[in-house]
Amino acid sequence: MLNVAIDGPAGAGKSSVAREVAARHGLLYLDTGALYRAVGLRALESGADTRDEAAVEALLPGTDISLRFVEGEQRVLLGDRDVSEDIRTQPVAMAASDVSAMPAVRSFLLELQRSIAAKNNCVMDGRDIGTVILPDADIKIFLTASAEERAARRVRQLAEKGKEADYATVVEEIKRRDEQDSTREIAPLKPAPDACVIDSTNMTFEQVVALISGMIGELV
Ligand code: DC
Repeated sequence: MLNVAIDGPAGAGKSSVAREVAARHGLLYLDTGALYRAVGLRALESGADTRDEAAVEALLPGTDISLRFVEGEQRVLLGDRDVSEDIRTQPVAMAASDVSAMPAVRSFLLELQRSIAAKNNCVMDGRDIGTVILPDADIKIFLTASAEERAARRVRQLAEKGKEADYATVVEEIKRRDEQDSTREIAPLKPAPDACVIDSTNMTFEQVVALISGMIGELV
């Protein structure tokens, strides 16, 4: 199987880049953040404190998360319920960041991610794909950009959807999530020693896609 790991901080463009690269090479695109978001959503909806490890851990046995791919598009299910849209909110993003620091949550989601990679040629994006989930991935990318640039992109993205966002607030949220994701004890956000680090602050989307696409092209 061909496995491409793309890790990096929130808002670095991992998902758009991974989706495009996957489409160009006929690979499955797997967004692993959606799994942590589903756990975050489950915790929020059950009224648990998302930072209370015991409370979140107690929810896991009754939590059934699965992925479905409809025409190549990933859908996330909590039981029978499709939560793919419900997980895309700021409170859920922060809850996902909270629960993702818990070892029980990470091991809960580990096998699901590995089993998909074992059965599919795929591009997987996340925080610890190259370091923990797929340490033998064929290609490892760590995609980053300055927090200011990532916030500016997010604000533009939201504006395109007709949503207004305050730049200063978005920068703050991004920095808070970076800090929390990279300083946690388990599977912190960091490049694998053999990852290719791409700082996209001054690169276009097309340049980043071309770079990764070229790496894949050399393998297939
Ligand atoms: O990529 P995202 O914004 O959807 O991820 C939501 C949160 O989930 C993020 O703050 C950190 C966590 N996460 C993780 O710890 N490991 C992953 N492989 C993916 C996401």
